[in-house]
Amino acid sequence: MSDAAQDLSGLTIVIAGASSPAGIACARQFAGAGARVVAVGSNAGRLEGALSDVDGVVLKTCDLSQAEDVQKLAAGLREDRLMPDGLIHLVGGWRGGDGIAGQSDGDYDFLHRQVVTTLRNTSRAFLPDLAASTRGRLAIVSATAVDRPTAGNASYAAVKSAAEAWVRAIADQFSPRHSGNDDDTPATAAACIVVVKALVDDAMRAGSPERRFPGHTDVRHVATTMAGLFTEDAAALNGRRVMLADLP
Ligand SMILES: NC(=O)c1ccc[n+]([C@@H]2O[C@H](COP(=O)([O-])OP(=O)(O)OC[C@H]3O[C@@H](n4cnc5c(N)ncnc54)[C@H](OP(=O)(O)O)[C@@H]3O)[C@@H](O)[C@H]2O)c1
Repeated sequence: MSDAAQDLSGLTIVIAGASSPAGIACARQFAGAGARVVAVGSNAGRLEGALSDVDGVVLKTCDLSQAEDVQKLAAGLREDRLMPDGLIHLVGGWRGGDGIAGQSDGDYDFLHRQVVTTLRNTSRAFLPDLAASTRGRLAIVSATAVDRPTAGNASYAAVKSAAEAWVRAIADQFSPRHSGNDDDTPATAAACIVVVKALVDDAMRAGSPERRFPGHTDVRHVATTMAGLFTEDAAALNGRRVMLADLP
């Protein structure tokens, strides 16, 4: 689905968590395809360092774990006529521990805030814009840990499972079957889940030239996949898990 050249001119894409290697790859991919990109991160310096040289990218600093701040961000974008057609949610983080007993409250709270709270905040703030778009898309990157949780990553698998359930609930709202929708209107918006085992980027490869990174997905593959979602049929895509990794 993903590697064909895409013309995404006219679309506005919000990338939530844009200063990571995956965020940078997505921002470059979307901007290169002609979309306007709103790159969001919590740290202005990291955003500047990551993306200030990319044409077509607007940088916005916002702590996405704070619902009021995200609502203000959405309102500001509407004032600037930057209503998003797409929300690519990439805020993440990882914590593990020694077995179930080692899954600390602090680590769970961190993961819940990063993975679930930021997704709830961004999706609730931007859903009206995505639903109004002719090509509305929302996507997260989830993990094969959801399919194969281990004792050592129980908290991570639990919050990623919650995030997937949240996205499938958004897919329900986008579906023509939803009670607020007209059954005869074809779906134009879709929410989906892109699944990887782990990500790899050029800096990781350069830092460990002896490693082969088996099962890892290159961030560029994530980026082309994300861009490809905007040329997929919405009804066929809505609620899907797009696997970019084999199950371990
Ligand atoms: N890395 C992997 O191997 C892997 C495996 C499976 C799934 N995934 C998923 O893939 C996605 C990308 O992963 P990643 O490893 O690139 O994520 P990451 O390193 O955790 O990057 C998170 C991004 O979100 C930003 N961010 C963090 N907290 C924020 C907040 N409160 N408000 C706004 N921005 C915030 C970070 O920048 P600032 O800190 O500057 O704000 C950074 O740009 C995540 O959803 C992750 O769960 C990753």
